[in-house]
Amino acid sequence: MYTEEEIKKAAKDIVGAEKIVALTGAGISTESGIPDFRGTDGLWTKYDPDDFTYSKFLQDPAKYWKMSLELGELLLSLEPKPNLAHLALARLEELGKLRCVITQNVDGLHQVAGNTEVIEFHGNLRRVVCIACGERFPHDLAMEKASNGELPPRCDKCKGILKPDAVLFEEPIPRYALDRSLEEARNCDLMIVVGTSAVVYPAAELPRIAKERDGYHASFFGLYQPRRVMDYKKGAKVIEINAEPTPLTGIVSDYLIEGKAGEILPKILKEVERLLGF
Ligand code: OAD
Repeated sequence: MYTEEEIKKAAKDIVGAEKIVALTGAGISTESGIPDFRGTDGLWTKYDPDDFTYSKFLQDPAKYWKMSLELGELLLSLEPKPNLAHLALARLEELGKLRCVITQNVDGLHQVAGNTEVIEFHGNLRRVVCIACGERFPHDLAMEKASNGELPPRCDKCKGILKPDAVLFEEPIPRYALDRSLEEARNCDLMIVVGTSAVVYPAAELPRIAKERDGYHASFFGLYQPRRVMDYKKGAKVIEINAEPTPLTGIVSDYLIEGKAGEILPKILKEVERLLGF
């Protein structure tokens, strides 16, 4: 459980930093009613992640869409709202204390909360993309087609198969998101990592890149090369806010503030505002 000292320390670090970036995962949205993946009630306890690979999708897109109907209803029909953790990050941006949010989430809640600089590392479930022509449509349109029996739903323009615009396993990270995240991670002086188990790559590499700052990261591009000796001293500070320790804890992150993001982030924000004289 977190302490008031940790809250104050984080607020001081935020006030003292100039280029702050947040990396978020499913844990920031659980308090909005969206389950995470690897927690006790996580989606991967009910679904097999192997069914969500790009090759499985191509083998049988209709089966994928049947699953998606169930899952999509669960995720989207809840009409989830941003919670206090999302809102605190939006306020930090407003205060000039957050350059951007790099999110692994596909729920779009950071934008709803008011963050304008959001890098969607794993895409967005509220859109679908035609795998033939690349045209994008609202997810609702594809769900409507699927629930009317059009399985798989097809593109209105070219009749190609529609796929949720979220990254499936085996798929590359969208180029723009990858490039911009890498640049932001390299250039930040503080990274706040919220609600991620930090086991899915390459997203989990970003805090390490921030920590090393200008380290050489061949692993990011899938090339195997021995790493240079890490020099964590000259890199960014990394603060983790998570319900439990992760592989970053005590190695990459300077400290973990353990508990619920929806409690911790608003407390940190309050202290930041106090220090800034609001
Ligand atoms: P995970 O489900 O792997 O991790 C969520 C983390 O958040 C866990 O460590 C939880 O303990 C923690 N957590 C849960 N509720 C929390 C709360 N209220 N406050 C703070 N922490 C909380 O989710 P991700 O790390 O985001 O990929 O998963 C990464 C990727 O794996 C996802 O983007 C998805 C999945 O397969 C794709 O879809 C490509």
